[in-house]
Amino acid sequence: MGDSSLLRELRGERADTPTVWFMRQAGRSLPEYRSLREGTTMLDSCVRPDMAAEITVQPVRRHQVDAGIFFSDIVVPARIAGLGVEIKPGVGPVFDHPIRTEADVDALPPLDDVYDAALAPIREAVGLTVAELGTTPLIGFAGAPFTVASYMVEGGPSRDHLRTRALMRSQPEVWARLAAWVAELSGRFLRAQVLAGASAVQLFDSWVGALSEDMYVSSVQPHSAAALAHVADLPVPRIHFGVGAAHLLSPMLGAGATAMGVDHRLRLDQALDLLPAGTPVQGNIDPAVLFTSEEVRFAEARAVLAAGSAASGHVVNLGHGVPPDADPQVLTDLVSFLHEQGTARA
Ligand code: CP3
Repeated sequence: MGDSSLLRELRGERADTPTVWFMRQAGRSLPEYRSLREGTTMLDSCVRPDMAAEITVQPVRRHQVDAGIFFSDIVVPARIAGLGVEIKPGVGPVFDHPIRTEADVDALPPLDDVYDAALAPIREAVGLTVAELGTTPLIGFAGAPFTVASYMVEGGPSRDHLRTRALMRSQPEVWARLAAWVAELSGRFLRAQVLAGASAVQLFDSWVGALSEDMYVSSVQPHSAAALAHVADLPVPRIHFGVGAAHLLSPMLGAGATAMGVDHRLRLDQALDLLPAGTPVQGNIDPAVLFTSEEVRFAEARAVLAAGSAASGHVVNLGHGVPPDADPQVLTDLVSFLHEQGTARA
């Protein structure tokens, strides 16, 4: 597995052909996913090891991507810890009881041996997946403290994360306790996946771009660092990703990541200028080209390869997740196009 192109790129050694996987490669864009999921809620499917394993493998089988991403969700750990949360189709995660006061934080369940034991279905699913994937590496993941806590504070999806940002400013101690709780929650979830066989991890801080650099560094970075510290003693690369977070690229790396995911708003060569020399990057084909002509799509793929050619390592991905209405054949063809290209080095 150490020889896989994914791990080589993430260690900063270039592989012979471009390495590619897609955020949200599993899921609604695949008919085999939709039929398997029928009659089972999203979060129930995540704690059924056979189902989670099969869904994880589906896009690898179909598209020949170079990595699997464990089928789960950033709110699965909260559900396993006992919080009332569901994923409303077309909406996203919704919590029964938003966390907004000190008393709400006091009432959060402890994260101890009982939680670790309850992660058994996750360990089992990862084990089944790794066996099924063979030589293709599995990426484990978790949500970062800001993004997960923002769902908990808002109670559901939010555009501006205003309540969360207000809590951070008006009750910084309450925020710090909540963020520390999520760091422990996500950190133990990451560690369980790696110990069960995941070869790399990605920490998703999807909504962190809503913060200024000052707010990030003072109120979020220490908690993201605490989450990543749960796997820092294990020999796995740690990818960190946020949307609209160009201004946070370097401090996010500073939270203890070893590679940075970049969204489609920032060219990879510009990202490299913002990062310490030698940092491997991941990204960042604009998902919009999944809905254009092949000519436009392949031109974008070539441009992304060229922009990443100066990096010590480059894992090709989309700038954000696969939209549910993407045509799976378009993704399969994009993977084979990428695999036909060499890794031109600058
Ligand atoms: O293939 C993969 O990438 C692995 C699976 C995965 C899911 N969620 C499955 C899922 C991953 C990595 C996630 C992470 C996740 N979940 C993030 C971070 C990545 C990102 O997109 O920025 C976030 C913010 C969430 C929260 C969340 N969960 C949202 C916003 C939604 C979409 C709601 C909707 O229906 O449009 C979900 C639901 C979800 N998570 C689905 C899947 C396959 C769709 C639910 C379904 O199939 O019924």
